[in-house]
Amino acid sequence: MSVTGGLLTGRLALVTGGASGIGRAICRTFAREGAKIAVVDINRNGAEETRSMLTNSSDHFSVATDVSSSASVADMLSQIQGKFTATPSIVVNAAGIIKDKSLLKMTEADFDQVISVNLKGTYLVTQAAVRAMKETKVQEGSVVNISSIVGKGGNIGQTNYAASKAGVIGLTKTVAKEMARYNIRVNSILPGMIETQMTASIPDEIAQLVKMLIPMARFGKPEEVAEVCAFLASPRASYITGQAVEVTGGLSF
Ligand SMILES: NC(=O)c1ccc[n+]([C@@H]2O[C@H](COP(=O)([O-])OP(=O)(O)OC[C@H]3O[C@@H](n4cnc5c(N)ncnc54)[C@H](O)[C@@H]3O)[C@@H](O)[C@H]2O)c1
Repeated sequence: MSVTGGLLTGRLALVTGGASGIGRAICRTFAREGAKIAVVDINRNGAEETRSMLTNSSDHFSVATDVSSSASVADMLSQIQGKFTATPSIVVNAAGIIKDKSLLKMTEADFDQVISVNLKGTYLVTQAAVRAMKETKVQEGSVVNISSIVGKGGNIGQTNYAASKAGVIGLTKTVAKEMARYNIRVNSILPGMIETQMTASIPDEIAQLVKMLIPMARFGKPEEVAEVCAFLASPRASYITGQAVEVTGGLSF
């Protein structure tokens, strides 16, 4: 293991969900640590805005992609390989959506859309990227999947979301076992309540109640997830794979 300069110097990182929230914070932290970033998001303008705010912004690239579409994912990866003449050795799956309803009110479309982006999207991007890493003989690969503490404990109104995030944990553990022989590590992060647009619509009185359940008595910041992600992506975590790391301020199930 050698770490010189930034934690991620010389690495190319593909980050989905990079237009906003946790994904944007991960792009910023990785760029600070010396990585080149491919910012991937369905929101083209937001992805480009993230790219423009990164350290050495012209070193980075943004691509509009729907992670739930295999054609879109294949096109995205070939654009990135063309731009950098390299395969990303770091992949972060942070794209995600919510469509909250109690089970009795949830429609089949609400269920399918959340599974399609959060779980199938993670599968499609991971499969395409890991295949390319193997084919191009990347020396040291790392995939970090952003799951959720809800995937472990469940949450009222989030049958679809909790199922998708539990699926991401299982996917991560399996791909970690399959890819260890190629020196590709695969881990997930289970954030608790993080201040992003995803949690901004929670009514204040509910947010206050939720904070009473969190030992640290506050929501986390996207940067607090990004720092753990940078560690897991880096050679400092060279013997960690298949793990689900909770970043929750102590909230536990
Ligand atoms: N905010 C939290 O409290 C929290 C907690 C646990 C887990 N998470 C997870 O963290 C990740 C990031 O969430 P966030 O809070 O930053 O939310 P966010 O809404 O700010 O960011 C999500 C991003 O995903 C993108 N996206 C949505 N559908 C897409 C698609 N089909 N293809 C490509 N990109 C798509 C959005 O455009 C957006 O930029 C998500 O996977 C979320 O489930 C968030």
